[in-house]
Amino acid sequence: MAGFGTVGQQVWKLLKEHRQLLSARLGAELKIVKVLVRSPHKKRLMALPKELLTQDSADLFSPEIDLVLELTGQVALAKKLAKSAFALGKAFVTANKALMAEHGLELSEQSLKKGVDLCFEASVAGGIPILRSLREGLAANRIQSLYGILNGTCNYILTEMEEKGADYQQVLEEAQRLGYAEANPRLDVGGWDAAHKLALLSSLAFGAWVDYRDFLVQGIQSISALDLEMANRFDYSIKLLGIAKDLGGKLQMRVQPTMIPKTSLLASVRGVLNAVAVEGDFVGPALFYGQGAGGAPTASAVVGDLVAVGRRLVANRSAIVPPFGLKNKLNQAKLTDLGELRSPYYCRFQAIDRAGVLAKITQILGKHSISLASVYQPLRHEGKKVPIIILTHEAKEKDIQKAHTLINRLREIPGPNTLIRVEEECP
Ligand code: NAP
Ligand code: HSE
Repeated sequence: MAGFGTVGQQVWKLLKEHRQLLSARLGAELKIVKVLVRSPHKKRLMALPKELLTQDSADLFSPEIDLVLELTGQVALAKKLAKSAFALGKAFVTANKALMAEHGLELSEQSLKKGVDLCFEASVAGGIPILRSLREGLAANRIQSLYGILNGTCNYILTEMEEKGADYQQVLEEAQRLGYAEANPRLDVGGWDAAHKLALLSSLAFGAWVDYRDFLVQGIQSISALDLEMANRFDYSIKLLGIAKDLGGKLQMRVQPTMIPKTSLLASVRGVLNAVAVEGDFVGPALFYGQGAGGAPTASAVVGDLVAVGRRLVANRSAIVPPFGLKNKLNQAKLTDLGELRSPYYCRFQAIDRAGVLAKITQILGKHSISLASVYQPLRHEGKKVPIIILTHEAKEKDIQKAHTLINRLREIPGPNTLIRVEEECP
């Protein structure tokens, strides 16, 4: 095992506490032989026999080792470990979504070529076994759409801000303390962690490789307490959503903070919980819900992978399950242009409270065929900055973006200004 942090220590605990249960289920014992860490003398929650610890990655590849488990969060190191594992015919299990989103295509090709397992269940949606469900349980379906709350840290922050009026920075620090956030939390709040996960889910669901750099990714940094309050008034919740839809051969994909009706199932997913709503042509709608981050749920997914590989080894089966569910090499997915996408939008402008400012905004919106459903100015402070909230009727993405850019340039609207899509049809 490489890494003995939040997840690694819980994997150790789980293997110890469920030793008998796992042996009974597997027909063999799962044994950790070496643990690679950066700082062997660091104080940790879980005690580990000293002789297990190493700083030398070569120790992970001795002949008696069948499987290399990577839980470091590093991309370059993880890729090196995966390649060495494949070269030596050892299975590779990881929880590293950044690794898989960056190099998953190459690694899955190597895994198929060498006939060596590559498993990454814990990399998406923490404890929810969504990858296995897509690869096996839903293998009979053409997947039509995926809607996911895929980042526990962001969902925790948005929930705490909405329910308790908590301060963004404080809740983020709390999420870090609880072990939910990535080592670099900008990956979480910037939407990139959710983008890595959506790309992996989509590659598996739609059978074509999706590069997370090819679709729109927005984070939650610009969402304010006022936006959450206004969403509530309009009967919406704000969620960082990953959305992927198959529109007849091309995929529509995005990760962005989205207003969804309070009555939708995903609106009730609170705190660190994640959910993935899948629509398949035969199964219809299916919803997967559970803890999306934290050591224990993630360890559950990791050990699920260890058992899957272990069962194959115990049964002496040589054929592996293809990592992305396809026997052959994955082609690159084709993505749609989001410009034609139509939906209502919520806009918050920070404007100087002066006569004629609202008229300037509505004129620009009108020129771009954007009609208004509701306008709200919560406070009056003549000559000072005030928020102006506008909810539009359905508008084209490219029109609202053009209008937003022009409004951003007005001297009377110094910003920061925010635009949030409304997804009325959210599961
Ligand atoms: P973490 O608490 O930061 O632990 C990382 C571990 O890796 C530490 O034990 C560290 O050693 C070791 N490590 C880091 N760089 C190393 C290097 N260059 N050489 C040797 N050892 C190194 O991370 P984590 O939260 O457990 O996350 C691990 C992985 O799981 C990440 O890929 C993350 O994205 C993924 N994941 C995490 C969660 C979660 O909720 N935390 C959920 C799902 C997936 P030291 O202890 O000596 O510093
Ligand atoms: N940082 C990630 C999250 C961990 O908050 O969802 C789980 O992948």
